[in-house]
Amino acid sequence: MTTTADRPSKPSTKAQRSAQPLEPLLEILRERASLPLEEARALPASFYTSQEIYDLEIEQIWRKSWIHVGRVEELVKPGDYISRDIAGEPLLITRTGTGEIKALSRVCAHRFMDILDGAEPAGNAESFSCPYHKWNYSLEGKLQGASYMNDNAAFQREKSEICLKSFQTSTWQGFVFVNLDPDASPLSTVMDQIEARMGNYDAADWRLVDRINWGVTAANWKLVVDNGREAYHHIGTHGESLEPLWPAHMVDFEPLETTDFFFARMFVSPEAAVGQEDGHYLNPLLLPAAPNLTPFERSNYIVAGIYPGFILVPGPDAMLTISFVPTGPDSHYLELDILAHKTALDDPDLDAKVKEYHDWLVSIQAEDAQAQLGVQRMFTSQLNLEGGPLSHLERAVWTFQRYLAKRLLAPGVRE
Ligand code: FES
Ligand SMILES: [Fe+2]
Repeated sequence: MTTTADRPSKPSTKAQRSAQPLEPLLEILRERASLPLEEARALPASFYTSQEIYDLEIEQIWRKSWIHVGRVEELVKPGDYISRDIAGEPLLITRTGTGEIKALSRVCAHRFMDILDGAEPAGNAESFSCPYHKWNYSLEGKLQGASYMNDNAAFQREKSEICLKSFQTSTWQGFVFVNLDPDASPLSTVMDQIEARMGNYDAADWRLVDRINWGVTAANWKLVVDNGREAYHHIGTHGESLEPLWPAHMVDFEPLETTDFFFARMFVSPEAAVGQEDGHYLNPLLLPAAPNLTPFERSNYIVAGIYPGFILVPGPDAMLTISFVPTGPDSHYLELDILAHKTALDDPDLDAKVKEYHDWLVSIQAEDAQAQLGVQRMFTSQLNLEGGPLSHLERAVWTFQRYLAKRLLAPGVRE
């Protein structure tokens, strides 16, 4: 049998839908977002293909939100850097000589070359030298050298001001975030609310031990959100994998008023549990467990979704993150990080255990990606794909519509 995963993934779903005017789509969003949960429906297919909706999302969501770009462990020494692209904005994030984490534009101030073109996407640099005409920038992004420029009076007047543009950064429990909006509210506005729900979990005590660079998948970014924010699909997509472990009906979503994030717990099934303590079934473990967790905390994995592109999944033995950014109306780029508790770093078998976790996570992500690709491929249909009713297990799909309405219908809304 040929599986959908065997087929080439081609970003070819714009088709006729992309020409749909914006206003009627926004009217549908307004109407869907105002429905109560018991009347909730999926968004029409056009929302996943429209260039106009996509452009508005980039402007109102992705260029105004805190986007996860990595861990502080990747930026320890001055000159450590990572490169990232957010909403078409090419960035490098670096540790400066004064110990600050800074997000710089990779666009050279001379004639727009990518100053990391041909360089490693992550590494350590003493300074940043543009490969085109060798203008040289300090770790802070200030121009500190340019050959054959002394005859240009404008350069002489401006050279002390020439620098790579910079953007806001912020960290929370070791996670580094960038916001392209200079007027954005602090990252803590949302993360304080997540932190209040984390109990004995503190991500500052966890270390990045593996990154799965999943790359680009030919599916609209909102399909990742929809998929990552409900466990209803455990009974289908993950019927053989996650459903026996964390059954759909045992995933508990906190009924929040806010649309800025969601918070859920996936409880282990009695059949998959490895024991019981104080009346709580205990999760099986692949990596060494974190100390100081209560039996309740060891009975479930938290799933905290911070819109638009960050899902934090702390569990007793591993803290996972799913991070994604759109790369077009019908594609996105995705990475999965595995963090182990710092006390687990002493385990002589940690590498082998992380490898086992890695392989398991890849198999789960392959199931999710297959579902996202399978949905996106259907959008070539000429039928009027209106969207069906949602289950109460898809509560966060419904709250996501309310988030979209808040961001897309009220230009200027920031968080
Ligand atoms: S474009 Fe960078 S030095 Fe010319
Ligand atoms: Fe899934």
